[in-house]
Amino acid sequence: MPQDDDKRLAAIAAADEVKDGMLVGLGTGSTAAFLIDELGRRHAAGLKFRAVATSLKSEAQAKALGISVLPFSEVSSVDLAIDGADEIDPHMRALKGAGGAMLREKCVAASARRMVVIADGSKAVAQLGAMPVPCETLPFAQAFVAAALERLGARVVLRLRDGQPHRTDQDNIVFDCHFGMLADPAALAAQLSSIPGMIGHGLFIDEVDALYLADAGQIIVRERLISG
Ligand code: A5P
Repeated sequence: MPQDDDKRLAAIAAADEVKDGMLVGLGTGSTAAFLIDELGRRHAAGLKFRAVATSLKSEAQAKALGISVLPFSEVSSVDLAIDGADEIDPHMRALKGAGGAMLREKCVAASARRMVVIADGSKAVAQLGAMPVPCETLPFAQAFVAAALERLGARVVLRLRDGQPHRTDQDNIVFDCHFGMLADPAALAAQLSSIPGMIGHGLFIDEVDALYLADAGQIIVRERLISG
């Protein structure tokens, strides 16, 4: 599939940023899975690095490839994080969480000295918001958080899997919040973050430093401008 070829291409190009001795944050999703496979190959070929993972699935994949995965609970910062995204705009603001891993992904991204997004061309957008903003929520506060999200203007949809509420790696639920196109993602991110019980949303405003975008077999690398 051409889209998968581009995901793999972006992942392999970004893998060059992993150097001996680094502690690397491994993302989650299909593009990150290509990265983990590639890093597994490089590890087998002698590249010496350790990792933390942004999901149980990525952790299992990395460990199966022989990569040393540390518990993030014992790590205050990583040298480099590499992860996919669902949408990324020209200001390096990303929307993530289609896979439901955005809370761990953001913790690891925020801890990273450098955070790189890997993506195929379909992820580059002029404006964020075609997909809903995922909001991981404490089940205890489900009704309260849903009402608060609606007050912010969202159509709020509880994410289901096999007919049951989707549960994250932390055993929380996810609200997919349809706001429409986002005129001011930073302001919305701040409003979402202020809701008690809403533990993590998929808007990444400041975290991303660079983008490896593969489109029809061509790689473009973009760095965040200092001014954001
Ligand atoms: C996981 O929750 C997400 O944030 C992923 O990083 C994002 O959905 C990208 O996934 P794909 O690489 O599978 O498109």
